[in-house]
Amino acid sequence: MSEVVGYELKGRVAVLTIDNPPVNALGIAVREGLVTQLDRAVADEGVNAIVILGAGRTFPAGADIREFDQPTREPHLIAVVDHLDSVEKPVVAAIHGTALGGGLELTLGCHFRVAAPGARMGMPEVNLGIFPGAAGTQRLPRVAGLDHALELIVLGKPIGAAKAKKYGIVDAIIDGDLRGGAVAFAEKVVADGTLRAISSEPCDGIGLSEDHAATIEKYRDLANRRMRGQDSPHQAMDSVIDGLTMPYPDAVAVDRKRFELCKNSVQSQALRYAFFAERKASKIPDIGKDVAPREIASAGVIGAGTMGRGIVISLADSGFPVTVVETSQESVDNGMVEIVKTYDEMIQRGRIDAVEKDKRLARITGAVGFEALNDVDLVIEAAFEDLDVKKQIFGELDSIAKPGAILASNTSYMDIDALAAATSRPEDVIGLHYFVPANAMRLLEVVRPAKASPDAIATGMSLAKKTGKIGVLARVCHGFIANRSRLPLVREATFLVEEGASPAQVDAVLMGVGMPMGPLAVSDLSGLDVSWRMRQSLANQHDPEERYMHLADRMCELGRFGIKAGQGWYNYEDGGRRPVHDPVTEVIAMEVAKEHGTVRRDISDDEIRERCLYAAINEGAKILDEGIAARASDIDVMWLYGFGFPRWSGGIMFTADEIGLGKIYQRIKELHAEHGKLWTPSPLLVRLAKECGSFTR
Ligand code: CAA
Repeated sequence: MSEVVGYELKGRVAVLTIDNPPVNALGIAVREGLVTQLDRAVADEGVNAIVILGAGRTFPAGADIREFDQPTREPHLIAVVDHLDSVEKPVVAAIHGTALGGGLELTLGCHFRVAAPGARMGMPEVNLGIFPGAAGTQRLPRVAGLDHALELIVLGKPIGAAKAKKYGIVDAIIDGDLRGGAVAFAEKVVADGTLRAISSEPCDGIGLSEDHAATIEKYRDLANRRMRGQDSPHQAMDSVIDGLTMPYPDAVAVDRKRFELCKNSVQSQALRYAFFAERKASKIPDIGKDVAPREIASAGVIGAGTMGRGIVISLADSGFPVTVVETSQESVDNGMVEIVKTYDEMIQRGRIDAVEKDKRLARITGAVGFEALNDVDLVIEAAFEDLDVKKQIFGELDSIAKPGAILASNTSYMDIDALAAATSRPEDVIGLHYFVPANAMRLLEVVRPAKASPDAIATGMSLAKKTGKIGVLARVCHGFIANRSRLPLVREATFLVEEGASPAQVDAVLMGVGMPMGPLAVSDLSGLDVSWRMRQSLANQHDPEERYMHLADRMCELGRFGIKAGQGWYNYEDGGRRPVHDPVTEVIAMEVAKEHGTVRRDISDDEIRERCLYAAINEGAKILDEGIAARASDIDVMWLYGFGFPRWSGGIMFTADEIGLGKIYQRIKELHAEHGKLWTPSPLLVRLAKECGSFTR
């Protein structure tokens, strides 16, 4: 008898319970268990119907993704699904939690589906670089119609039980006792003699009509816009077309091969890596689950600028009462006006209604002076990036904040150890580095100063989760993980313009690797003056042996701060936001090149790609080697969530492993010889290249 699939009789109904925590994934033991218990129910003459459900928190949330890296073992899930619908007794799936991917496919093999009101159903396989591989692409269009099926299969977003009922995926929603309700449903089906619904059988909706072709076109277009560069949505659609145009067994046979190709593709490996990387990031090697985060019942934010406002909104949106503090009533009022504007935009986009806006606004209080923060559990400082200003703020906070309050800085690169030292309670000081716009961006870089207590760090990580963000831990260094690893890419981008590339060429090459925007267009958007001020503040630390970003400085000296100035690397005509080629940039680049003896030349796309990516990878290796990042995958999670690096690439460290560290090291050696100290290879990269090792495997 199988341990992971239980068998129990309720009158004449056999109840099969899948019990494989945490998410009842359909690994080999579950598949074997299901076949065994199904056969038992079929053979049992006392049984006239079967119910399948999940123990614990959910119906199976899909195939066991960890098995994808191993040879597939029989029975395949598709065989289980096919076996289910051939059973001559009615089989009812009873869904709660999340029936995802193979989990939903399993229910499609059942003849009926009932669900708890809170259940969610979906086919998120495209997010793993694959498509529903257990005949979901054949069966779901027959059950739900092509449009609804493609919505689930191509966009990969789950739907709730009510919608699933509307789409015909669910036959009934059961309030209260799901198990009892499912058994009663099965008994009624038997009593009424309801015909078993077999989702592999041909139906009216099969065949490639003109309407079908138009629907497929609509989803191809959506996939191109929302998942640029990703193959799996298109593979999924091809598989659906097979299901519409071929008899079920033929389509399934063709798709078995397509599925294997998809599963073994680099994109799928990268997406699976990203799935686990994201979950690993929340686990801190030396802080166990026994370290409880501190309770945060209220929060305060210092500064109502762009960043401060975003943080306030993020906290209020997640239910925290939050006090935003400024130096004058006028600044408080201006901040509140902008916050209201953001909520109005959310209403316009249909994301919230007016009632919700009022609820969220009611959680926000504006105040002048730090005294207003004397009773909050968490203070996040989002003041101007000036170390002395921040030290003073932390000194004052120390005398005002209540004992045990977390004192956090949102600085994106400064020395948080120095801020902690400005207080008498360094154990309470952490970094919470948000990304613009803080209410929308999902990354939160939690920075760990040397003296921070484990529970202060656990609180930062837990805050990320509570506010719907992915928290990733970094140790203190200039720029932490995210900005430190990205700076070399931006630096090379500007050097390449000085050497002869156009901003548009550089940006196009990096968009070609899947980045949503080129780095120079991003600089124009965020303002070239931000990093200019940072370079100025570090001027006395500049190593003369390292090449300097003269061109970026010159752009700022000329007031070319980017979009807000109407000109930066590009021109923004008539106050627009669309970057337009500006010949003046080339003239400035030529002047700067002449002043600094830079030889201008034609630059190939390959050189741009290599220099920008390899500079970031080399820095990533240094960050890893120095222990600033606990693992290479944490660096990748930062790139995926902070900089929109395509998830199907896995991130820069995964990409490096894909290219091969030996090859990268050879090229970095050449660049080091050619361009000097900034290209000093990371000792870790050198070592791994020699050992044929990797960062992420
Ligand atoms: N396989 C293996 N492990 C899985 C898993 C899966 N399908 N889904 C989740 N897990 C693991 C997670 O890695 C995590 O493990 P750790 O605790 O060791 O980190 C644990 O289960 C809990 O997961 P979450 O932390 O994500 O828990 P959550 O409550 O926040 O979310 C969930 C639950 C919504 C199910 C989410 O885990 C999820 O989206 N899982 C993936 C679902 C999916 O993609 N299913 C399709 C799989 S592919 C497939 O089915 C192919 C096919 O066609 C046959």
